[in-house]
Amino acid sequence: MNQDDLAAIDLQIHACRLCPLCQNRNCAVPGLGPAPARIMLVGEAPGREEDMTGKPFVGRAGRLLDGAIEQAGLVRAETFITSVIKCRPPENRKPKKLEIASCSHYLQAQIDIVNPEIICLMGNTAAQAVLGMQGIAALRGRILQDRFLVTYHPAAVLRNRNLMEGFVSDLKRLNTLENH
Ligand code: URA
Repeated sequence: MNQDDLAAIDLQIHACRLCPLCQNRNCAVPGLGPAPARIMLVGEAPGREEDMTGKPFVGRAGRLLDGAIEQAGLVRAETFITSVIKCRPPENRKPKKLEIASCSHYLQAQIDIVNPEIICLMGNTAAQAVLGMQGIAALRGRILQDRFLVTYHPAAVLRNRNLMEGFVSDLKRLNTLENH
């Protein structure tokens, strides 16, 4: 599994019409990064700047994520970054169940191709979609099912800068989990 397999999924996502979000998108946002990659980061849904560029986490939350990644000693270009759904919801509202259900096979295919050792689920939408669990306060910072680490969504950290220290310390754990 490699970059060609990822490119094939990207094409499917760009052509996707499985849910109504396709009607208003400028760009679908499949995700970005190498395959294989040791670390995968999963957010919620593209926002305005992601919809304009087709790239994940390039807006304000993305800049905060970049800073946190650097502080944690990770290299963004070595991680695979994506979101649970690949098209922007209107006004950045939370994705609906039907949208998540229509889109989740793309994330599963990306996980299979990228084959990460550790998958960082950023926020409740990602934790719920992938693990069926919510409640960041209780879930964050723990390794779940041998492969998942739940942390805050960067947009939550933007709203409450007091969360930054915990967010960075969670991301640091991604670096030290080779033998978890
Ligand atoms: N928030 C997300 O969850 N994903 C993005 O790509 C951008 C913002």
